Amino acid sequence: MDLIFHRHWIFVGVEPDDCMTVKVGASPVLILRGEDMEIRAFHNVCRHRGARLVTGPKATIGNIVCAYHGWTYGETGELFFAEHMGPDFDHSCHGLKPVHLRTLALAGLIFICLAEEAPDDFDRMAEAVTPYIAPHDIANSKVAYSYDLIEDGNRKLTMENNRECYHCAINHPELTVPLQEYGFGFSPDDIDDYRRADIAKYQAELEVAYARWAGLGLPSDECEALDNTTGYRTRRLVLMGAGESHTLDTRRDSKKLLSNFKDARLDGLSFWTHPNSWYHFMADHAVTFMCMPLGPDRTLVRTNRLVHKDAVEGRDYDLENLIPRLDDDQPAGRGSGRARPYRHRATGL
Ligand code: FES
Repeated sequence: MDLIFHRHWIFVGVEPDDCMTVKVGASPVLILRGEDMEIRAFHNVCRHRGARLVTGPKATIGNIVCAYHGWTYGETGELFFAEHMGPDFDHSCHGLKPVHLRTLALAGLIFICLAEEAPDDFDRMAEAVTPYIAPHDIANSKVAYSYDLIEDGNRKLTMENNRECYHCAINHPELTVPLQEYGFGFSPDDIDDYRRADIAKYQAELEVAYARWAGLGLPSDECEALDNTTGYRTRRLVLMGAGESHTLDTRRDSKKLLSNFKDARLDGLSFWTHPNSWYHFMADHAVTFMCMPLGPDRTLVRTNRLVHKDAVEGRDYDLENLIPRLDDDQPAGRGSGRARPYRHRATGL
């Protein structure tokens, strides 16, 4: 935690309307939108005796009032009010401790850094990936659904598992409907005719997709910097079938598309950052994943599904379609225990 999560840029979520909290290891952080619409981050710790200032994951607040002795802070962290501290007390020395914060791709995705001096490569990453992500206009989206999953494993296992799709056909057969496992680069040796035909189909789709993306002005080539402190990789991936979304029928879930997209067939932009996040951006919705270590053998994985801010549930999108299939024993949010019948075309599982 000291060497990575307290030094690197950490993805913590999407911009709140007002206030959100997050905990990085033992460090509670408060993220707040001011009346000037700027987003700022502070240690969620009162400068008097260290009480937690905002409890709960979200809040609507004006000034920040400590519940212990009433010290009151403004939205830019300055200490307004501290009763009975005597004439020599200097309010200006007791403002909230700021935390570095950046938003990515024309705002929307929030990263914080707890180090005194943040790695200076964030801006280079932002410059490289903004042309890929910005067309999806995440700043004008809203969270349609959010859920937390506690995995009984180390954070590195979560991230490593995410970086390969070798296991997808066995463990997430529904993912191999829109995503072709051959798009992830494993050797096509030793395969049967069924899979050989699948690869040929994928490559044909890829050629068409490159031309389609270029025509829409969407960058698609792999873009990565794995040796940076803020390591990242992004690439547009062809989606099979209708190519519109990560759904079982590969069609859009939300009728109201993100941004001002007219064409639902944009396939999917995949993005990943070290050490704790990955994302999928489609025409109709986007999915963000944040993982946070809770201990050496427990990891929080928080998933947000984003739709256009004007999309209306029941009219434009159906939450039943946006929510992944979850096993009965997973401690998730809304949707927990919902199981969908699914039969993999190749394995019959
Ligand atoms: S701990 Fe916050 S006012 Fe005392």
